[in-house]
Amino acid sequence: MTEYRSVARVFTAPEAHDGDGVELRRAFPGNALMDLDPFLLLDQMGPMDVAPGKARGFPPHPHRGFETVTYLLSGEMQHRDSWGNHGVLRPGDVQWMTAGSGLVHSELPGESLVRDGGRLHGFQLWINLPRRDKMIRPRYQDTTAARIPVARNGDGTVAAKVIAGEALGTKGVIDTRIPILYVHLTLQPGAEYTQEVPRSENAFAFVIEGEGRFANTRAGQYGVVLFDRGGDAVRISNPGKKPLSLLLIAGEPIGEPVARYGPFVMNSRDELQQAVADFREGRMGVLA
Ligand code: FE2
Repeated sequence: MTEYRSVARVFTAPEAHDGDGVELRRAFPGNALMDLDPFLLLDQMGPMDVAPGKARGFPPHPHRGFETVTYLLSGEMQHRDSWGNHGVLRPGDVQWMTAGSGLVHSELPGESLVRDGGRLHGFQLWINLPRRDKMIRPRYQDTTAARIPVARNGDGTVAAKVIAGEALGTKGVIDTRIPILYVHLTLQPGAEYTQEVPRSENAFAFVIEGEGRFANTRAGQYGVVLFDRGGDAVRISNPGKKPLSLLLIAGEPIGEPVARYGPFVMNSRDELQQAVADFREGRMGVLA
């Protein structure tokens, strides 16, 4: 018989800034929650309205030892890295980047956003890599909106955009190194949704818009809802009068020591020192 998880904690993601002035809501790490194995960080970028010529982004910086997942809702972003990779993200697109052994990259507003201004809104999730994968070759899964399936329930009141994992019988197209669920859900007023999540996995939700009921708790805009592990499914409903939009994310904990220094996440201090040295000496490439 299905057992539903309870909610362990709810808090509102605090405001923050990063890059060269990007307005964020940082769900974690922060005072309320340091990390949630295997997840290291979740930022909502914006939503911010930028004037022509004023768009902000993330100038060159390195990464090693984990994955960054960028999901854009509005605006445009372009990325470029030290190994010659580059691309543009448009609304609905996902970039799943496995930094692995390391790279230096920039994540900047796209040309049209810089020229015309507009609204920037998106998310970046950091997922840790297990020891066996920390030094693999960097890999990009740039996935356009058209390739990301949207599943609907029987009466059409729930839409599930499946970025990774499986929802409503539909599987995402992205390969993950460990089991990950990443779904963008939209529930119409009165709708209910159940998602199976194995008991071993950590699960949380981020409310983008509207108000949701999660087990016996309610959460509104920018609420972070942490589920406990006492069940094999989570239940979400929309008690409000407006659509509810949220991210539902779950993953299998890695259970290894985490040594973290800014954009490097390894298993030990020695490996961190090696990462810093490799970056300084250009072994993660150089972004001109
Ligand atoms: Fe980055």
